[in-house]
Amino acid sequence: MGACCSEPVNFDGEVDLFHFDLHRAVGKGAFGKVRVVEHKRTKKLYALKYIEKAKCIKQKAIANIIQERRLLEEIDHPYIVNLRYAFQDDENCFFVLDLMLGGDLRFHLERRGRLEEEHVRLWAAELASGLDYLRSQRIIHRDLKPDNILLDAQGHAHITDFNVAIHYSERRLHTSVAGSMAYMAPEILARQGYSWHVDWWSLGVVLWELIFHRRPFDGRNADRMTQAIINDALRYPQNLSEYCTEEAKDFLTGLLEKNPKLRLGCRSRSRGIDDIHEHPWFAGLDWDALESKEIQPAFVPDMKKANFDVSHELDEFLMVEKPLTHSKRKANPDLEKMKPELRQLEEQFTVYDFSKNQRMSYYPHNQPITTSNHNEDGEPATVLQSTTNTMLPTTTMVERSSAGSPLPDERIPPHPTISMDIHDSRRSDSR
Ligand SMILES: Nc1ncnc2c1ncn2[C@@H]1O[C@H](COP(=O)(O)OP(=O)(O)O)[C@@H](O)[C@H]1O
Ligand SMILES: [Mg+2]
Repeated sequence: MGACCSEPVNFDGEVDLFHFDLHRAVGKGAFGKVRVVEHKRTKKLYALKYIEKAKCIKQKAIANIIQERRLLEEIDHPYIVNLRYAFQDDENCFFVLDLMLGGDLRFHLERRGRLEEEHVRLWAAELASGLDYLRSQRIIHRDLKPDNILLDAQGHAHITDFNVAIHYSERRLHTSVAGSMAYMAPEILARQGYSWHVDWWSLGVVLWELIFHRRPFDGRNADRMTQAIINDALRYPQNLSEYCTEEAKDFLTGLLEKNPKLRLGCRSRSRGIDDIHEHPWFAGLDWDALESKEIQPAFVPDMKKANFDVSHELDEFLMVEKPLTHSKRKANPDLEKMKPELRQLEEQFTVYDFSKNQRMSYYPHNQPITTSNHNEDGEPATVLQSTTNTMLPTTTMVERSSAGSPLPDERIPPHPTISMDIHDSRRSDSR
C-alpha cells in the first residue's frame, strides 16, 4: 500500500512524506488519522498522525495543531508518546510519533471490560511519572482519557494527544473549558479557574473506569454530568473487594478530591510526586526501575491479534476516506496570495527532525529546555474569563474565543476564532 514514485529519496534534505513507506491505518481521533509508517533508510517503524489542512481550517483548529506541534517538541519522556518528525505537504500536516503497537486503553476497556488491579497499578505509576514530567515542563495536558493512553508492545502506558494541551503559569489560572467532559475536574466545570491539578483528577477518572468499567460521575446530559462532578460524593461498589484493594480505593479517593489543593499528587514542587511515591498502593514498587522502564508489565498486549479497530483500515479501502498518498509540494508557494490560515500553517507548523534538532522550549519562547526552578508556592493571582460551551462526555472539546490573540512570532493576523486556551497561555507567558 502507498507505493510511491521510483525517484530516489533525498535523505539529506528536509524530512517529508517521501522518507516513509505507508502501512496500515491504526487509529482515528477527533482531528487526526493515524497509520504505521516505515522510515525508508533506517527501517524504523513509527506512527504517522496526519491532519487535513482543509478540515483543520473548517474546525477552526489551526492554533491547536500549531500548539500541539510546539509542545511536542518540548517533550521527551519514557511514558509519553514522543515526537520524532513534523512536516507538511500541500494538503496535510504530519506528526511522526513513537509507534505504540499495544492499542489504546479505550480499545482494551471495550474488549476486556474491567481490568485487573495489578495491571492498572503499574499503568497508574507510569502515568503518574508522565504527568509529573509534564508538570515540570509547565504543561497541562487537559485531555487525559483512555483513548489518549497508548500501550507499547510490552504493555507500558504512554500519554498521547497534545491537541488541547497548554502551558501554565503559576501566576494565572485558566478558565477556558477544554478536554472531554467526563474526565474534566470540578474546578474546570465550576469555572473557578484551574491549573495543572486537573490532569491528576482526570487520572483518577481513568483509573476508576479501568477498575470498575464505569465512570465515577455520569449523567444523561451535560448539565447533570456537570452537577455530578461538582457536587456528588464518590460511590464505591458495595462489593469493592471483588474489584480492588483498600489501598487502590484510597488512591482513587485522593485523586478524585474536589479541592485541587488537597488532591493527591498536587502539592507543590516535588512534594506532590513524593505523596504518590509514598502511597501504600505503591508499596514495594521500585520507582527507579519504573523510570528506566525496567519493570515488565504483566499485561502484555496480544501481538498476534490487531490491537486496534480494523475499521480504520476499511474506511480507506472502501473509499469512505480519501487514501493518503505521497505528493510533491507546489514549488515556492506565494505566501502573500495564500489564505491566512494556510499561510499561518506554512509559517508556524515548522519542520522537526529529532535526529537534527535540539529540542526547544516555547516557555519562555525559543529557549533550550532546562528544568524549571520557579517558585511554585505562589498563589495564582488572576482568573481569566471565557464563554460557555456544550459538550459530549468522551469527545474532546475546545472552547474558542471570538477575539483572536496573535501567536508570539506571528506576522499575519490569525483567524478571528482561535482557541481560547492558547489565548490564555500566551497571555500568561508574557508576564
Ligand atoms: N503513536 C501511536 N501509535 C499507535 N496508535 C496511535 C498513535 N497515536 C495515536 N494512535 C491511535 O490513533 C488515535 C487518535 O490519535 P490522537 O493522537 O488521539 O488523535 P486526535 O487528536 O484526533 O484524538 C488514538 O486514540 C490511537 O488509537
Ligand atoms: Mg485523541
